Amino acid sequence: MIRARVIGAGACLPSNVVTNDDLAKKMDTSDEWIQGRTGIKQRRIALPGEKTSDLALGAARAALTDAGIDAGELDMIICATTTPDESFPATATIVQARLGMAHGAAFDVQAVCSGFIYGMAVADSLIRTGAARTILLIGAETMSRLLDWEDRTTCVLFGDGAGAVVLQAHIGLGTNADQGILNTRLFSDGRLHDMLYTDGGVSSTQTVGKLKMQGKEVFKHAVTNIAAAIAASAAASNIPLSEIDWFVPHQANQRILDGTAKKLSIDPAKVISTVALHGNTSAASVPLALVTAIKDGRIKRGNLVLLEAMGGGFTWGAALLRW
Ligand code: UT7
Repeated sequence: MIRARVIGAGACLPSNVVTNDDLAKKMDTSDEWIQGRTGIKQRRIALPGEKTSDLALGAARAALTDAGIDAGELDMIICATTTPDESFPATATIVQARLGMAHGAAFDVQAVCSGFIYGMAVADSLIRTGAARTILLIGAETMSRLLDWEDRTTCVLFGDGAGAVVLQAHIGLGTNADQGILNTRLFSDGRLHDMLYTDGGVSSTQTVGKLKMQGKEVFKHAVTNIAAAIAASAAASNIPLSEIDWFVPHQANQRILDGTAKKLSIDPAKVISTVALHGNTSAASVPLALVTAIKDGRIKRGNLVLLEAMGGGFTWGAALLRW
């Protein structure tokens, strides 16, 4: 049985660090409020002129180096982003050109904060059906460009960054002992649009709009939906949650991570958290957390790793991998 196995991972963050105290100098907020409500201490904000494709390219190069391959070996590039450089073409094609790759295919996936999980489901399907052997999957965002910097209830929460993995076909036995993606589970409910959206777009206002969020409502749905996605993914492979070594969640709020772990009786020490350093980087947050835990040695070959996310749409989902 063909499995999609991660053979390399990498990340790229803007150099510009913005702390809670930096924000408190510009608006009516405080380090105490932001840390107490969210766990966020700082975020990276792209400098003027720094684009999503710049971060995506940095993460892509790091992932290719980690995998020990060059772009010539890639069949496809998938970029999960809500903040593309341009309305079209896809940011993935910009990365493709900048990697010097003139073959294969490149396209974007848009599922906001769940984008990396959606991209992983697409990449997994393409690899398992034999349509592609090696895929570069990127989650890259410049969420700072979509924020209303006059709205303290949202602008303190988000940051910019990118993370990427290289997925490659690998022959397994078709059991849970196989390395690679064991299953993915995707969900959405478009009726919940008004809780998290941008008040603009190409066909409506001919602007990109600004992010609008009913934070409290999103919070409640996040814990419920992420817990449901985790349970669905574990059940799909018939693996008890206690056997999963690492949970790599979307990084929106430490209280969501803690609430989900509590709801499912997951040991909080098994939950990777980078929200303090990066804030919510939408589609980049899962790969950024993943890369952090790979590089610091927590995630090791053979571990069971469950990735999960939830975001605008609403969209949510999970992916279970044997590392
Ligand atoms: O990526 C996926 C989607 N995003 C999320 O998952 C985010 C989900 N939501 C959340 O993380 C939380 O709901 C927030 C962090 C957004 C807000 O936390 P909360 O505990 O729900 O706070 P709240 O909205 O109830 O606000 C409490 C108070 C309000 O003041 P009053 O009305 O009680 O006087 C706000 O005006 O905190 C005030 N407030 C702030 N104070 C200082 C809101 N934002 C700020 C701020 N600094 N930045």
